[in-house]
Amino acid sequence: GTGLHSLAKAAGKLYFGTATDNGELTDQAYTAILDNINEFGQITPANSMKWDATEPTQGQFTFAGGDQIANLAKTNGQLLRGHNCVWYNQLPSWVSNGKFTAAQLTDIVQTHCSTLVSHYKGQVLLTVAYMLTTMFDSQDAWDVINEPFNDDGTWRSDVFYNTLGTQFVPIALQAARAADPNAKLYINDYNIEQSGAKATAMLNLVKQLKADGIPIDGVGFQCHFIVGEVPGTFQQVLEQFTALGVEVAITELDIRMTLPATQASLQQQQKDYQTVVQACMNVEGCVGITVWDFTDKYSWVPSTFSGQGEACPWDQNLQKKPAYTGITTALSA
Ligand code: G3I
Repeated sequence: GTGLHSLAKAAGKLYFGTATDNGELTDQAYTAILDNINEFGQITPANSMKWDATEPTQGQFTFAGGDQIANLAKTNGQLLRGHNCVWYNQLPSWVSNGKFTAAQLTDIVQTHCSTLVSHYKGQVLLTVAYMLTTMFDSQDAWDVINEPFNDDGTWRSDVFYNTLGTQFVPIALQAARAADPNAKLYINDYNIEQSGAKATAMLNLVKQLKADGIPIDGVGFQCHFIVGEVPGTFQQVLEQFTALGVEVAITELDIRMTLPATQASLQQQQKDYQTVVQACMNVEGCVGITVWDFTDKYSWVPSTFSGQGEACPWDQNLQKKPAYTGITTALSA
């Protein structure tokens, strides 16, 4: 096949994937592309496995939205990336600062992570061909910890850090490991794609977790980039992480531009997509690439960054953009 996932597999990567969201699944022109295993071998739910969606009331778990995405992955033979267990954002109001002691919040984090990860344990269909090509290695992945650092490399002051200090990280990772010993456990963040304080903080965290014997399998690089501003040190940073004995993945790739798009900005975007995918290709421990939805029709960018958009490889009308060719060029090199 010539689609993104087929090319990624042929090049020795595990997958090329995309984020998706429940509200998009009634759009049949959209799902025709989403369900095409030649294009996407992995999906990530953009919202429906987050804390506010899965445990809106303490101890009462709601999996309907997440199950819809997990079942779609199963039907399509796609890998599933769980997103996410512990994050300061999209938290229900019952998980808030000052309400719980350290012991109580430890229990809450353990219950949340372990219930979520065990619910989706083994949800991924492994075809015989897939198992052969992956040497029976499990490829379930979870973003157990999402966005723990500020951009200056200090810890984000959220309910988890404020109540538990840095211990919330091992607490969550250990609960996830116990819930599904075969899942790849990740910490996922943005602005760690370039050398600097935040990447250094993440490197130091991984080193410390490894030294302490805490389960950590991978680091996710979100890669929410801007056209013309892909960091020059990206590949080098990926290599610094794999040197520590963890895998890496590009988990939320999109490359936004100032609107309206021009031929020049779309061509620069093509180059930028190629550069990013090539960096993963050049690093053996970079296992796969996920775009944060594949079409501008459903991108999160315009509603967050006023005047910016067109960040995805397919346009509003579900037509491939030059960016698509940037990706295939890197995957075929
Ligand atoms: O579900 C409600 C709906 O009932 C309501 O009518 C509507 C009105 O605003 O809002 C809907 O919720 C929105 C939700 O997406 C589902 O569409 C929220 O307002 C909106 O804030 C939320 O945005 C999500 C964002 O995370 C929140 O932080 C984006 O879809 C999602 O793509 C984005 O994903 C994050 C990753 O999880 C972490 N990394 C960054 C990435 C991009 O921000």
